[in-house]
Formats: sequence, structure tokens, C-alpha cells
Amino acid sequence: MNSASHSDSGAARVVRVELGPRSYEIRIQPGLLLKVGQLLATTVKARRVLVVTDRNIGPVHGRPLAKALQSAGISGDLIELPPGEGAKTWEVCKSLYDICFDQGLDRSSCLVALGGGVIGDLTGFVAATFMRGIDFVQVPTTLLAMVDASVGGKTAIDHPRSKNGIGAFHQPRAVFIDSDALKTLPDRDLKSGLAEVIKYGVIEDAAFFAWIEQNLAALLARDPEALSYAIEHSCRSKARIVGEDERESEGGNRALLNYGHTFGHAIEACLNYQGYLHGEAVAIGMALAGELALRRKLWKPEEAERVEKLILRAGLPTKLRLSDPAPELLHAATFSDKKTRGGQLRFVLPTAIGKTAVFKDVPEAEALKVWQDVPRA
Ligand SMILES: NC(=O)c1ccc[n+]([C@@H]2O[C@H](COP(=O)([O-])OP(=O)(O)OC[C@H]3O[C@@H](n4cnc5c(N)ncnc54)[C@H](O)[C@@H]3O)[C@@H](O)[C@H]2O)c1
Ligand SMILES: [Zn+2]
Repeated sequence: MNSASHSDSGAARVVRVELGPRSYEIRIQPGLLLKVGQLLATTVKARRVLVVTDRNIGPVHGRPLAKALQSAGISGDLIELPPGEGAKTWEVCKSLYDICFDQGLDRSSCLVALGGGVIGDLTGFVAATFMRGIDFVQVPTTLLAMVDASVGGKTAIDHPRSKNGIGAFHQPRAVFIDSDALKTLPDRDLKSGLAEVIKYGVIEDAAFFAWIEQNLAALLARDPEALSYAIEHSCRSKARIVGEDERESEGGNRALLNYGHTFGHAIEACLNYQGYLHGEAVAIGMALAGELALRRKLWKPEEAERVEKLILRAGLPTKLRLSDPAPELLHAATFSDKKTRGGQLRFVLPTAIGKTAVFKDVPEAEALKVWQDVPRA
């Protein structure tokens, strides 16, 4: 991978997450990585930080970040973990606690998560629990983390029986998004992030959905303006929803963000988090939720088709593969997902493009039927 250029240009877009004493800013700007040192110095008290990243990101974006910290008078080591979902395990988490102790971090230290959702979730979880909770800052480098995972304070590691099964709510002190980091992101990961962008359109914003339809080619071509707009808009949605319902309370709106995720997480868990990227599993999950909504006559076939068409145009799957686990296994996996409460399935289903609701009354047999009936590619 070539070293990435972080141009020091472009206006900053700022989105605030309003959570009283836990409020923070999301700053989106090309070249921002070079300013993270200065920004951090004014955001947190720590003059000692630990930057957690992975081996793909460290050599390209870690070094410029380390330099930026140094020039702001902040000392910080860079820890490079193995890339991939496999890092969201107890073993890697424990090794990170060991490093925190070895480095003499204390309650006034700060962790910096430089990476995708995996690094963000894991680092956030360590920050939530080390010394009963220390500061952390998100510097997301994947589209998925920029538009979703880095915002909102959900931190977690996986348990063999449940994706994100062990976790905590712990808000970052700031989210610094350098859209230039996307220049080095593999195509497949860019598309995976687009699944979450499409999600915001379907759950609550028909105009944004139409904007994505019109600007998809620019997004896929990594047009900086289009990407910045999509990131800002997605962050605004997420910030507002989280601001209203930080902890995904019963009857609150945060649950709507799980659209596509009940089916999607079951696919990921059943395949042991291998085979599909998170956004790909969510894309299939959105298509299956659309089908379930159609069977319940919640929305029109034309709307389901429009969503499916956009997912496909984004280069994402809408169907399971022939080789994927049996419908019964996938169905069983939906019950270990946190989207169930008291063993009761909950589905976020669209009633129109831009409108979704949580349904707790889907009979098991009806959900199983979707897994069974939907053709595989
Ligand atoms: N906390 C939340 O609210 C939330 C929301 C959505 C998803 N998630 C979690 O996020 C995770 C998925 O995140 P992800 O899709 O970002 O995957 P990821 O973190 O595994 O990153 C994807 C791949 O891209 C590489 N990479 C990252 N940035 C790069 C860059 N700029 N250039 C080159 N390579 C780069 C990584 O090394 C990795 O191999 C899942 O574990 C999911 O559960 C969390
Ligand atoms: Zn997701």
C-alpha cells in the first residue's frame, strides 16, 4: 500500500452530538489527520495517549498521526493489531489491557482509535473498562466507521455466541474524520460502508435516499465532495438519533439503526464473522427486511425494488449464496442477537422509503419462511 497523502485543504464540516456532559464534536475535513494533535490538545487533558490501529492502517496513516501528535507536544505510542473482525476478541482485548498497564497509562490517559469499526469498537471497549473508564477519541479510516461505528458510543468485542455480545456504552470525546483516508481503502470496504449510508436514507430520510440514487456513481468513484456530503449527512442522522436515545431504550428511535441488522448479524454469526463484510451482511439483511415488510403488506413492491436496486448498484449483495448455512441455522442465529428481548424477535421494517418502525409481533414461522423462501445466488 502506498503512503497516503493527507492534503491540508477543504473546509471543516462539524456535527455535534448533544448528550449533555457527554456531548462531543464530529469534525469532517480532508487532511484532518495532520491536525489531530492540535485538536486533541484542546479536547482532552491527557498529554499521554496510546494510538491503537491495525497493521494495514498503521504504516499508511499511523505515522502521519504520530507526527501530528508529537508536534502538538503529546507523547503517544502506536500499537498495531492484526486486521479484521478477529481482533474483536477477549484475547486481543486482554493484550491491549496488558499494553495499557505496561505503558503506565492511568485514569488521565487517552486512547486514540485509528481505524475501522473493529479498532473503534475494541479500543472503545478497552477505554470504557480500563481503570473504570478513560477518555478516548475516534479517528475512523473506513467509510463504515466514519458514517456509523465511530459515532454513538457503542463499544464491544464479540463472543462466539453473540456478535458485539460483550460491550459498554462509552462516548468518545471527539470524532476526527479525515476523508482523505478513504483514498487507500479497498473497494470492497468502501462498498460495505455504503450499506450503512443507504440505511439512513431508508430509515428516516427519503430525500437523502434520492440523493444517494443520483450520486452513487460519484460516491463509488470516491469523489471527495460527494463522500464528504454523505459522511456529514449520515453523521447528522446518527448524532440526532443518538442524542434522543443514547442507550437504545425500549420504544426509542435508536433501535431503527438496526434496520437490516437482525438478519445481517445472524448471517455474520452463523458464518463465524467470515465470508461477508459487515456492510455486505447488512445489505442482505436490508433486502430480507424489505421482503418481510412486503409479505406483511407494510410497503409497496416498487419501494422494495427501489431499495434492492440501489443496494445492487452499490456493488453489494441482496441474496445469500448457495453455499451459505441452512435457513434453520440462520433463523436460530437471530435469537442470539441482542435485537431480541426476552427471546422475542424484533425487526425494524420499512413502511416506506424514509420511514421505519420496530415490529415485535413477527411470528417465528414467518421469519423462518423468509430465510427459507428467498432465492440464493
Ligand atoms: N459501534 C457501532 O456503532 C458500530 C456500527 C457499525 C459497525 N460496527 C462494527 O464495525 C466493524 C466493521 O467495521 P469496518 O467495516 O470499518 O471494518 P474493519 O475495521 O475490519 O476495516 C476493514 C478493513 O479495512 C482496512 N482499513 C481500514 N481503513 C483503511 C484505510 N483507510 N486504508 C486501507 N485499509 C484500511 C482494515 O485494516 C480492515 O482490513 C464490525 O465489527 C461492526 O460490528 C460498529
Ligand atoms: Zn452496522
